[in-house]
Amino acid sequence: MKRVYFLLAFSTLGMSTYGQKTIDQKVAELLAKMTLEEKVGQMVQYSGFEYATGPQQSNSAAVLEEIKKGKVGSMLNVAGSEETRAFQKLAMQSRLKIPLLFGQDVIHGYRTTFPVNLGQAASWDLGMIEKSERIAATEAAAYGIHWTFAPMVDIARDPRWGRVMEGSGEDTYLGTKIGLARIKGFQGRGLGSLDAVMACAKHFAAYGAAVGGRDYNSVDMSLRQLNETYLPPFKAAAEAGVATFMNSFNDINGIPATANQYIQRDLLKGKWNYKGFVVSDWGSIGEMIPHGYARDANEAAEKAIQGGSDMDMESRVYMAQLPKLVKEGKVDAKLVDDATGRILTRKFEMGLFDDPYRFSNEKRQKEQTDNRENRKFGREFGSKSIVLLKNQGNILPLSKTVKTVALIGPFAKETVANHGFWSIAFKDDNQRIVSQFDGIKNQLDKNSTLMYAKGCNVDDQDKSQFSEAVETAKKADVVIMTLGEGHAMSGEAKSRSNIGFTGVQEDLLKEIAKTGKPIILMVNAGRPLIFNWASDNIPAIMYTWWLGTEAGNSIADVLFGTVNPGGKLPMSFPRTEGQIPVYYNHFNTGRPAKNNTDRNYVSAYIDLDNDPKYPFGYGLSYTDFKYSDMILSSVNLTGNQTLNISVTVSNTGKYDGEEVVQLYIRDLFGKVVRPVKELKGFQKIFIKKGESKKVDFKLTPEELKFFDEDLNFDWESGEFDIMIGTHSQNVQTKRINWVK
Ligand code: BGC
Repeated sequence: MKRVYFLLAFSTLGMSTYGQKTIDQKVAELLAKMTLEEKVGQMVQYSGFEYATGPQQSNSAAVLEEIKKGKVGSMLNVAGSEETRAFQKLAMQSRLKIPLLFGQDVIHGYRTTFPVNLGQAASWDLGMIEKSERIAATEAAAYGIHWTFAPMVDIARDPRWGRVMEGSGEDTYLGTKIGLARIKGFQGRGLGSLDAVMACAKHFAAYGAAVGGRDYNSVDMSLRQLNETYLPPFKAAAEAGVATFMNSFNDINGIPATANQYIQRDLLKGKWNYKGFVVSDWGSIGEMIPHGYARDANEAAEKAIQGGSDMDMESRVYMAQLPKLVKEGKVDAKLVDDATGRILTRKFEMGLFDDPYRFSNEKRQKEQTDNRENRKFGREFGSKSIVLLKNQGNILPLSKTVKTVALIGPFAKETVANHGFWSIAFKDDNQRIVSQFDGIKNQLDKNSTLMYAKGCNVDDQDKSQFSEAVETAKKADVVIMTLGEGHAMSGEAKSRSNIGFTGVQEDLLKEIAKTGKPIILMVNAGRPLIFNWASDNIPAIMYTWWLGTEAGNSIADVLFGTVNPGGKLPMSFPRTEGQIPVYYNHFNTGRPAKNNTDRNYVSAYIDLDNDPKYPFGYGLSYTDFKYSDMILSSVNLTGNQTLNISVTVSNTGKYDGEEVVQLYIRDLFGKVVRPVKELKGFQKIFIKKGESKKVDFKLTPEELKFFDEDLNFDWESGEFDIMIGTHSQNVQTKRINWVK
């Protein structure tokens, strides 16, 4: 039923009527009145002047004049009811009074920030993810924003790439589901609602596969791999009615995505029949010159529009080049009409022609500033995103009455850092952010003592604060260490070649460990980090990402057991940088290792175990779950039958808890080789202690399909392994035969 509503809400896009006429008719009428320059104007987007999210070519006075002349279609980084109103007033001075669209990176919350996206993905909780975007949309729309540049649905297998924090990890199935939940959350009841923003599937495409994990780098891969691993979240987004797409900085097999006819024209606007518009990434049209794909701005503009880029974000080449290119006959005027029409359609759908100021409303803005309900949700969401990696001797949860606790580490009293990267709605407003120190202090018994020592800074070599930290630890019954990477060390342009704890943090941890005190380690990061010494020597480890406005409270809720952690890793954690990329759904190779230490002429490193440090889907709970009675409806299937699979999960531990039950398959032989495992379903279930639940899955031939060399998408008769378990390396397996 819910799904039907979702589809209905999106299927009405572009068909709603305003007055007697359809939007298509209105767009056609408007286009007929527009000059070529006015049309191209709609295809231009500039950044506001207060801050920039890319290398801005600032000329604010000229931009303001161009808006008045109808030569600008959209602004990014202009937000707030007052500011958006002021800009919209300028657009209303233009000949045809076409309203501006205001876009912004609303990535993991707006006024209320939520965990960084990779952390959200660790919750595997589609309902919460959707709700967080509903809140983000409501807050952002109340600040005059029409359009968010999210969700980022780039699949990423390389944790060196800083932008893994913005995505959903390494898996296509999980990433697709999360992308859809986000779009549903952002677009709510549909475009035009005052609490909905247009979503944007980005970065089209394969941006997450940059060679070496270095941001903006090239991508070279087979079209089979591109279609199978990287494109499905985009295709699903297009089918679900995502309002816009953004292309990417990288080239794909030698052709920049921005001018890539295969992905933007043949697939997106062709085969997938997508009716929304495509915005370039910041400056990506102009960047085709350094790419070596366009000789100059003129050629860049020509190739970008031919390749399907409808709006130019901050390259400033469309307005300068396109009218000329059309007049010279080098660009078909119909391409400009098509791009402009797509953009105008969205403006009509958003209701901006009825009232260009409808999102600029002071009262709504006030209601959505520091909204208590939203924070409450943020606290809960934060705790659900935490992944418990280790809990030797059940040291966690910690009793609130433990006498003395030492909190040590550079992040303990941080406030702003808890937002992580991409928290644009915050400038200096750090009063409202709950530090880890405050969160823990608030919940610790009043007769207990919480001591603090910083120990070191995030990223330098200075050890002068070590001795104070060691002395503090010596006085405590339990030490909580909070270490990791700085909040601005992941995100755009934040690739790292070495993904350990930065500076002298690990040395600090070793010094504190020498005191012999029990240590609980909290890892703050936007990506999978490598921390082998800590993993092997510290009894309890919680992966806390960056959790947003309520971070300290969310952490304390898990630390003291108010919330039993249930997060699971959405990316494999490597043992060393040299093991990257390591991901669960790899091929078997002709010489697979028999076990972790097999080195006998097999596909392995001679100096490293084969598996990752922590596998995809891994995460502990304070309770124990036991899997039993895996039952298949049949082991011999034909044609379009449905396979019913069930498993019983029992909570055999001491706490109520949530478990993410994961379903994987393996297609044993194919005309192209198939991964050793592929996630095909998951369910997050709550089980009371002492109770059991039967969990059901269904599988149809649809889930068995794959791309062959000629890009046919189909399934083949044969044997398949069906696997169910608690993470990608802990499953029960049953074999079936499925014949077409
Ligand atoms: C990023 C995009 C972002 C845009 C606007 C670019 O640098 O790659 O993801 O939406 O800037 O801020």
